[in-house]
Amino acid sequence: MIGIFDSGIGGLTVVKGIMDTLPGYDIVYFGDTARTPYGTKSSRTVIDYCLQNTEFLLNNGAKMIVMACNTASSVATEAVRASFDIPVYEVVTPAVDLCLEATKKGIIGVIGTRATIASGIYERKILEKKPQAKVYCAPCPLLVPLVEEGWLKKPETKMIVKKYLHPLKVRQIDTLILGCTHYPILKNIIASKIGKRVAIIDSSIAIATQVKAFLEHNPVLDETLPKTNTARFFVSDITPQFQKTAKGIIGKNLDLEQAEAAAFF
Ligand code: DGL
Repeated sequence: MIGIFDSGIGGLTVVKGIMDTLPGYDIVYFGDTARTPYGTKSSRTVIDYCLQNTEFLLNNGAKMIVMACNTASSVATEAVRASFDIPVYEVVTPAVDLCLEATKKGIIGVIGTRATIASGIYERKILEKKPQAKVYCAPCPLLVPLVEEGWLKKPETKMIVKKYLHPLKVRQIDTLILGCTHYPILKNIIASKIGKRVAIIDSSIAIATQVKAFLEHNPVLDETLPKTNTARFFVSDITPQFQKTAKGIIGKNLDLEQAEAAAFF
């Protein structure tokens, strides 16, 4: 199975991308709803959570891991790769690659959680590949709780998005990276506030394309992945709000399974 995890609901945007790009592949998902958000926590804590999440997914049949969380990808990729002998995919690199294909002026905005922006990973990776680029980053700490809460169309959410994007808008960015897998759920609001001329880079689509290419080049691993159209969705805390928002993302009711607390604490 392809194992995918996030701090909560945001990773379902990646699940949707992978289901659309690799139809039929079995998926096992873990949303760490009991410990969300990750973006306000220290690197040490996020790394510990990511190691536990990976182990949990491997114990439930995963043969490769997609860290469908920019915060996890920013701070824990090396630790997860060093601890487990399986392919581990992160969402930052594919978003950077897609962004560099899309940008015309090289004036790039990045939004993400505090932890992702503080890690400096997007700036670093963009400038490594395009040193003349101008990169402007903005942490948007209120957006993850708004999404988890299901406030997807509220005027308050629109107002907050507008305020967060203002400093990027005045820099006249031509490309905006959604550096958090929760943000594609607010894509329409973000697009309307940043303006039509700005290309929006959604890491959930970028990662799905990269995983597909990886499997095409690794037929031995690909053969071990079952393709029976099965998807299991584990969370560390089942809430009615998660059910509702999840349905909006995947397009159908999900049978959520409670992950054993013993696996994490
Ligand atoms: N979806 C996660 C990300 O991409 C959200 C992080 C959080 O829990 O704060 O960063």
